[in-house]
Amino acid sequence: MKKMILSSLLLGLMAFVLMQGFQVRELGAGSGESIAQERCTACHGIGRVERAGHDRARWNSTVRRMMGKSNFGPKLSDAEFEALIEYLVSI
Ligand code: HEC
Repeated sequence: MKKMILSSLLLGLMAFVLMQGFQVRELGAGSGESIAQERCTACHGIGRVERAGHDRARWNSTVRRMMGKSNFGPKLSDAEFEALIEYLVSI
């Protein structure tokens, strides 16, 4: 009986941790601004990004170019790429 209580507690805890993880991931993928802040400032300031003023086509090629820069280039999933481009064309 004790074992059953323990394992259901453990299951509940695992479900809780998993849900937290999903929430963070959804937020992260949805926010182009936070992706820019986190992934585009390793080599230069965010100012360089904000001042560029590119259109959509130019941002597409610029972000692809940044992703290709050595091992430090940002690694973005398709969803993150799209969210980032949406944010970049909006600023
Ligand atoms: C691995 C380092 C690195 C990371 C990470 C990086 N950049 Fe860059 N970025 C550079 C370097 C080096 C230059 C200057 C040379 C060049 O333009 O290719 C540059 C230049 C730029 C420029 C000015 C040139 C232009 O074409 O307008 C913009 C805008 C830019 N980066 C945007 C971004 C964005 C957006 C991200 C995130 C997706 C990012 N960078 C992440 C290294 C990086």
